[in-house]
Amino acid sequence: MLSEAWTYLYRKKVYRFYEGLRDYEIETWISNAGVGNYDSVADQDLNKISMMLNLNIEALTILSSLYVRAYKDVEGTQLINISSCEGCTIVPRAVTYCAAKFYVSTFTEGPARKLEEAGAKMKAKVLAPAATKTEFGMVANNVSEYDYDKSFGTYHTGKQAAGFLLGLYDSEKVVGMVDRESFGFRLADPLFPYAGNSSHSQQCM
Ligand SMILES: NC(=O)c1ccc[n+]([C@@H]2O[C@H](COP(=O)([O-])OP(=O)(O)OC[C@H]3O[C@@H](n4cnc5c(N)ncnc54)[C@H](OP(=O)(O)O)[C@@H]3O)[C@@H](O)[C@H]2O)c1
Repeated sequence: MLSEAWTYLYRKKVYRFYEGLRDYEIETWISNAGVGNYDSVADQDLNKISMMLNLNIEALTILSSLYVRAYKDVEGTQLINISSCEGCTIVPRAVTYCAAKFYVSTFTEGPARKLEEAGAKMKAKVLAPAATKTEFGMVANNVSEYDYDKSFGTYHTGKQAAGFLLGLYDSEKVVGMVDRESFGFRLADPLFPYAGNSSHSQQCM
């Protein structure tokens, strides 16, 4: 198992990375770095899973939080986190990855709603691509070659995915989503229920 020391050092590196950008004015923050893993919950390599959760969830959470804290009142700023269309479904051989991307989607929709409610200047958005031909397939399957034509048949190119990102950047919508079945791209309002007005949510203390 990954040691506590490894996790501590990883977390420290994430903070150090953000600190290193202190001299820049950051108009848009995109958390794109992420890996996948294809395996059953029973068989999955827990070291790889811990590293995936550290990157896909913990690093993204720390970096997003620091960025929102510093820039929420700066005109024109955007936080865009890269989730996946698998963030709102359960793929049998990628359950942990799906759950991690569910986290990315809901974690990003939260500040998107809150920033809008508060009339803040920053917008938070989430992009949820489907299969895209990158190195993702290789890393997710622990192989040195990966054939997207054989494994998926339908997929987007990196250039197409970048186009979706730009479409989301230019729009007023919170979600940019590729449909997992049709591969169509649409811009949408937040997907998940929001308890902002619920009397059952804890009020500010
Ligand atoms: N490709 C797909 O089918 C697909 C579908 C839906 C969502 N996504 C999401 O899209 C995002 C980008 O993935 P991709 O398709 O472009 O895959 P990719 O080609 O494998 O790129 C992954 C990126 O993550 C970075 N990365 C990996 N491990 C890291 C670590 N420990 N610390 C810092 N950076 C690390 C890589 O940096 P280096 O280049 O330096 O290694 C690379 O820039 C991910 O969040 C992925 O979950 C991908």
